[in-house]
Amino acid sequence: MLRVKEVNQYYGGSHILRNVNLQAELGKVTVVLGRNGVGKTTLLKSLMGLVPIKSGSIELDGVPIHKATPYERARLGIGFVPQGREIFGRLTVQENLLMGLATKKGSTPIPAELFELFPVLKQMLGRRGGDLSGGQQQQLAIARALAAGPKLLILDEPTEGIQPNIIKDIGRVIRMLADRGNMAIVLVEQYYDFAEALADHYVVMERGEVIASGPGSEMQARGVRQLVAI
Ligand SMILES: Nc1ncnc2c1ncn2[C@@H]1O[C@H](COP(=O)(O)OP(=O)(O)OP(=O)(O)O)[C@@H](O)[C@H]1O
Ligand SMILES: [Mg+2]
Repeated sequence: MLRVKEVNQYYGGSHILRNVNLQAELGKVTVVLGRNGVGKTTLLKSLMGLVPIKSGSIELDGVPIHKATPYERARLGIGFVPQGREIFGRLTVQENLLMGLATKKGSTPIPAELFELFPVLKQMLGRRGGDLSGGQQQQLAIARALAAGPKLLILDEPTEGIQPNIIKDIGRVIRMLADRGNMAIVLVEQYYDFAEALADHYVVMERGEVIASGPGSEMQARGVRQLVAI
């Protein structure tokens, strides 16, 4: 579904992503791990087109997308859950969800399924995003990314600052979405246990480079926890 080849990215003169390769398949969760500042968010922003890449290629379903705008990439089927959630605090839950449908035709309704995944959102439709708890905002950000029915879902540290019971709910939803088989998921995560529990594949980054990768089932044996320990 997603094929990232030899991507290089710079912020001004700083070389941030260095020959990054990454793949994500339908029905699988690919976890990207790494300490603070290694380039995880920059990688996801490059996938979404929020920062330009200097060289390399990004293909979605065999189609090169690295020159497309973020809007076009959303329309092609990428859903993005940004670090820190970035929901619209002054808009209602309903309005936030409608923003997730911006790439669809005018009258596309909010899929009822989103409220099965996150029942709390149904009770809070008229409430302002900014009045939700951190965990509820995270669920809203995920629901917003799912609204248009993406085939690739990318999530940037969805557990950051979230209470444990909501982390569990989010983990269950991610697993369920993957198990349906029609979506590829790329999960950036620093919470190791959460990452290991969900990973079908893992990638470890250090200073903008992929330094290790493999099947999720081998993370423990290969000492990935130690690789990313602070
Ligand atoms: N807009 C920017 N302009 C210049 N440098 C930036 C910018 N955004 C990030 N950087 C730098 O790029 C590097 C990678 O940052 P990035 O946010 O991708 O890391 P990260 O792995 O997501 O970190 P964290 O785990 O803290 O979220 C860091 O050195 C950071 O300081
Ligand atoms: Mg980050």
